Amino acid sequence: MIAVRSRAPQRARLSALGAYVPEQVVTNADFVARMDTTDEWIVSRTGIRERRYARPDQATSDLAIEAARAVLDDAGLPAADVDALIVPTCTPDHLFPSVAAITADAIGAHNAAAFDIEAACSGFIYGLSQATALVESGFARNVLVVGAELFSRLVDPDDRSTCILFGDGAAGALVTAGDPGDTDGFLGFDLGADGSLACELLLPVGGTRQPASQPFAREAAYVQMNGREVFRFATRVMEETTVRILEAVGLGIDDIDLLVAHQANQRIIDHAIGRLGFDPAKVFNNVEHYGNTSAASIPLALWEARQAGVLRPGMQTLLVGFGAGLTWGATVVRYEP
Ligand code: UT7
Repeated sequence: MIAVRSRAPQRARLSALGAYVPEQVVTNADFVARMDTTDEWIVSRTGIRERRYARPDQATSDLAIEAARAVLDDAGLPAADVDALIVPTCTPDHLFPSVAAITADAIGAHNAAAFDIEAACSGFIYGLSQATALVESGFARNVLVVGAELFSRLVDPDDRSTCILFGDGAAGALVTAGDPGDTDGFLGFDLGADGSLACELLLPVGGTRQPASQPFAREAAYVQMNGREVFRFATRVMEETTVRILEAVGLGIDDIDLLVAHQANQRIIDHAIGRLGFDPAKVFNNVEHYGNTSAASIPLALWEARQAGVLRPGMQTLLVGFGAGLTWGATVVRYEP
C-alpha cells in the first residue's frame, strides 16, 4: 500500500481536463424491452438511467484519441510537448500493443513515452500517481493521463446483473510541472490492492490463464462479477482510503471542497459518504447519465463538474476509486488551470 504526502520542490499540478463520450445513448427502457428487468430496479439499485455505447467501428483507442485531443485543446498544449501519455484501461484494443502507443501516434505525441495502466476502475488514480511521480522527479514536465474504456463489448448482453451497469467513454487530465514553491497540485496518494479478491470481478478468457485459442464456455468471454462482494468491498475501501489520504495530507473532511468518486453505483457513493459524514452537497455525480465507465469515470465526472462550474480553481478536491483487482486509490488535488 502506498500512502504518501507529496513534498517535492517541483509540484505536479492538475492543469487541464477533457472528455469524449460516444453518441449512442442506451436507456434503461432499451434493456426493459429485451430482458427481465425494470427501470425501477436499475434506478433504485444503481442510480443509472442511461449510458453511452461506442459505434461498432470504434475501439478503445478511438475514444482515447478524442479525449486526449480534448485535454490538449483545453491546455493549449501542442502534442509534441507531451512527455508521457498514460492510458488507464482494462478494456484495451488488444492485449498488446498498448492503447497509449496507438493514441500517442494518432494525436502526434511523437516525443512521448506511452504505456497503459491496468488497475481497472482505480486506474485513473493510479495513472495520476504515476504522472505525479514523473513530474516531481523531474523526468517529465507534461504528462497526459487518459482513462478509456469500452465495456459494452465485453459485458454479456444477456446478463442482466452486469450489462445494465457499464458504459463506454474516455476522459483525462494533463499533469504539468508547477513553479518551485507552488502549493497547488497533488497533495498525496493512497493506493492499494487486495488480490485475494481477484476472482470477484474478472474477465476470464483472453489472457494466459485461459487463452482465446482454447475452447471456453460462452460466459467466460464476458465480465463476471460477484456484485454483492464488490459492493461490500467498495463501501469499505471508499471509507478507509479516504480516512488514510486525509491523514496523510493533514486535512480534515471539512477541508475538502469537492468529492468525485468512481461512478459505479449511486448507492455505493451514498453509503460511503454517509459513513464518512461527508456533506452530500459537496459530492459531484453523473453515474445517472453514463453508468460505470471504469477508468474513465472519475475524469469524466471531474470534467463535467468543471463544465458545470462546480469544480473551480483552487478547490481542494478528493478523488476516490475502487475496482477489479480488487484495487483502490485516492488523492487530494488543488485544481489550478
Ligand atoms: O467498478 C466496480 C464495478 N462493480 C460494481 O460497482 C458492482 C457493485 N455491486 C452492485 O452495484 C450491486 O451488487 C448490483 C447493482 C450489481 C446488484 O444489486 P444487489 O442489490 O446486490 O442485487 P443482487 O445481486 O443481490 O441480486 C438481487 C436480485 C437477484 O434475484 P434473486 O436471486 O434474489 O431472485 C438478481 O437475480 O436481483 C436480481 N437482479 C435483477 N433484477 C432485475 C440482478 N440484476 C437485475 C436486473 N433487473 N437488472
